[in-house]
Amino acid sequence: MKVAKENAALAALDFVSDGMVLGLGSGSTAEIFLEKLGDRIAGGLKVSGVQTSERTRQVALEAGIPLLDPDRVEHIDVTVDGADEVDEAFHLIKGGGACLLREKIVAQASAKMIVIVDDRKLVHTLGAFQLPVEVDPFCLGVTARQVYDALLASGCRDGLTTLRQKGAGEGPLVTDGGNYILDCQCQEIPDPAKTADALARIPGVMESGLFVDLADVIVVGEVDHAKVLEIKRDS
Ligand code: 5RP
Repeated sequence: MKVAKENAALAALDFVSDGMVLGLGSGSTAEIFLEKLGDRIAGGLKVSGVQTSERTRQVALEAGIPLLDPDRVEHIDVTVDGADEVDEAFHLIKGGGACLLREKIVAQASAKMIVIVDDRKLVHTLGAFQLPVEVDPFCLGVTARQVYDALLASGCRDGLTTLRQKGAGEGPLVTDGGNYILDCQCQEIPDPAKTADALARIPGVMESGLFVDLADVIVVGEVDHAKVLEIKRDS
């Protein structure tokens, strides 16, 4: 599947031009994009980036991509990021790599979000991939119960949540922002906007991995080419 990811990453470079500020996504597909972007920068392309995770910051620096201080950035032209699932309306599940909060901050601040995936990520209905929800560790049990209730009330087929662990015996995984991740076995999320809204009303939820109405372009990598799917949004 590496070649499909590479084809998606290369096709996404067509959306990049001199002078742009880029949101730099996280995950294995996004890292291939960073590598290819680094090659273009070495060849003379002039862009700068904003990372969505500590890991991406390191990979981007190694690839020679100039980074801006995220606290000083006010506008991002294009974000290129991966996803765990993509439905026909371009709604996404993200957060498999536990970076969803910063990924959403950057995507939402961007004029355009390009999602790079291989074709295994395309689904009819979101939810087979466990939905990551980033939560404040304080009163975790209360928040987990509220997340479960919100998932069922918003129409998901299941709501069982598991606290993501760092590794065997290493305790809970802590995100770059100091939060925990609840992985939610929804099975089916029939109305992603309703579920995202229900989760957003829970005080202990920092963000959910449901990206609704954020992706503008989906680049689907296959073994010998990439398909570019675009959606028109009212601005
Ligand atoms: C990280 C993410 C990733 O973009 C998502 O998990 C896809 O990763 P990969 O390209 O490795 O399949 O959301 O939080």
